[in-house]
Amino acid sequence: MLNDDLKSISKRFTGKGVFPYQMAFTLLLPFRNLFLSPKTLIERLDLNRNHTVLEIGPGPGYFSLAVAKALSQGVLYLFDIQQEMLNYARQRLERRSQSNVQYYQASGANFPFEDNVFDRIFLVTVLGEVENRETYIREMARTLKNDGFVSVSELKGDPDRLTENELTALFQAAGFECCRKYETFWGLTINYKKKGYGGTDGA
Ligand SMILES: C[S@@+](CC[C@H](N)C(=O)[O-])C[C@H]1O[C@@H](n2cnc3c(N)ncnc32)[C@H](O)[C@@H]1O
Repeated sequence: MLNDDLKSISKRFTGKGVFPYQMAFTLLLPFRNLFLSPKTLIERLDLNRNHTVLEIGPGPGYFSLAVAKALSQGVLYLFDIQQEMLNYARQRLERRSQSNVQYYQASGANFPFEDNVFDRIFLVTVLGEVENRETYIREMARTLKNDGFVSVSELKGDPDRLTENELTALFQAAGFECCRKYETFWGLTINYKKKGYGGTDGA
């Protein structure tokens, strides 16, 4: 039994599928800065301190802490399908007295948020794990303010990584267009805004 559990965790850790919460600590290793640091991500998000921001799939909160700090008068919503990941993130953020954060467990379907509430929605190495991608992107369109944008980062080495073409096809089908792209050897961030709206993307 234990052996089967270990096999399943190891399979999901090295292969496709939802990242196992038992390996969450690996998402906090500082070498990740080489791929994408919280500081670089914050620059790409072009945040204001009073923004309302949704992070989908925060895991243990590697990026969440820095984003919450940048929102000194705003709120960060963390939305993950695994309650264990949310517990881990909550523990880290509360230990650092970060109180402007709300925690929501995802059901895998619709979002539990009102229309047009978020200035930014971001995901780092998450979308490839989401089964219901089309529904999620439609929900992003519904909950994003018209002048906001969605930022998607995909990093090298992630077995679920989506390509630029795959991402752009998915977002275009839901009425988004690319407003900014950042690419390095280690990965890619693309910001998508609603087609026909300005978007404060810093471009
Ligand atoms: C590879 S981890 C990345 C965590 C974090 N973004 C980071 O880069 O450190 C992917 C995360 O997405 C979450 N996830 C997978 N499918 C999801 C879904 N349908 N809705 C919300 N979160 C999901 C997983 O539970 C996990 O916490």
